[in-house]
Amino acid sequence: MTTLLEIHGLVSGYGAGQVVRGIDLNVEPGQIVALLGRNGVGKTTFVHTIMGMVRPIAGSVLIDGEDVAGLPAHAIARHRIGLVPQGRRVFAALTVEENLRIAVRGVRGQWTVDRVYDLLPRLRERRRNWGHQLSGGEQQMLAIGRALLGNPRLLLLDEPSDGLAPAVITQIIDLLHALCKDGELTVLLIEQDLRSAFALADTIHIMDHGILVHSATTTAFRRDRATAQRLLGVS
Ligand SMILES: Nc1ncnc2c1ncn2[C@@H]1O[C@H](COP(=O)(O)OP(=O)(O)OP(=O)(O)O)[C@@H](O)[C@H]1O
Ligand SMILES: [Mg+2]
Repeated sequence: MTTLLEIHGLVSGYGAGQVVRGIDLNVEPGQIVALLGRNGVGKTTFVHTIMGMVRPIAGSVLIDGEDVAGLPAHAIARHRIGLVPQGRRVFAALTVEENLRIAVRGVRGQWTVDRVYDLLPRLRERRRNWGHQLSGGEQQMLAIGRALLGNPRLLLLDEPSDGLAPAVITQIIDLLHALCKDGELTVLLIEQDLRSAFALADTIHIMDHGILVHSATTTAFRRDRATAQRLLGVS
């Protein structure tokens, strides 16, 4: 089995400044891997580098063994990597339905707008509402629905729980569970919310100042409160 995502020595940043300072990380098919870290440690920059939105300075990003580092974003998306961006990025002046329709990529696969509505009936109810009329949770569902329409094999989610109430975070966790249960979707979950990572991930990595400072199975990390406290300021 080839590793779906294999990252070696990845370095990137803005201008002369390095934000991602040498990261190695593997994601195997069917896995859910969580990357945790405090504000500003470089999580989004890392995700944007994988997606081709920030240029790598050094290192490689192998997808199914093929190095895509430095390719433009549209070429990387063709490898069926989807991004649910931080802050959802729903188009406020488009309806729910329009937000979904423009995400249809013509990639062969199982996801259609109707299937997204079957999975997320709340979006069907709100199909004629404007993006700006949605709650945070509905926007997050819409952002996930849009990413699914690209029929991804690998989905990167950048802080999906950010700003959501605990009950809504539970809905997002349940949704991701359902999407991953047959092992066909692989997930790299960026989070600050430990509960989401504990509920979903097989493996947890902690990022600090652009490098990974700790990696463990979720089971081992759950027992290691001292490390969580030291690296994330939570217990
Ligand atoms: N477009 C940009 N241009 C210049 N510097 C940037 C840019 N985006 C982010 N940075 C800087 O890079 C560093 C890491 O930011 P990044 O957004 O990757 O962190 P993060 O871990 O995702 O934070 P958060 O948890 O707040 O989302 C910060 O110092 C930030 O100010
Ligand atoms: Mg971020």
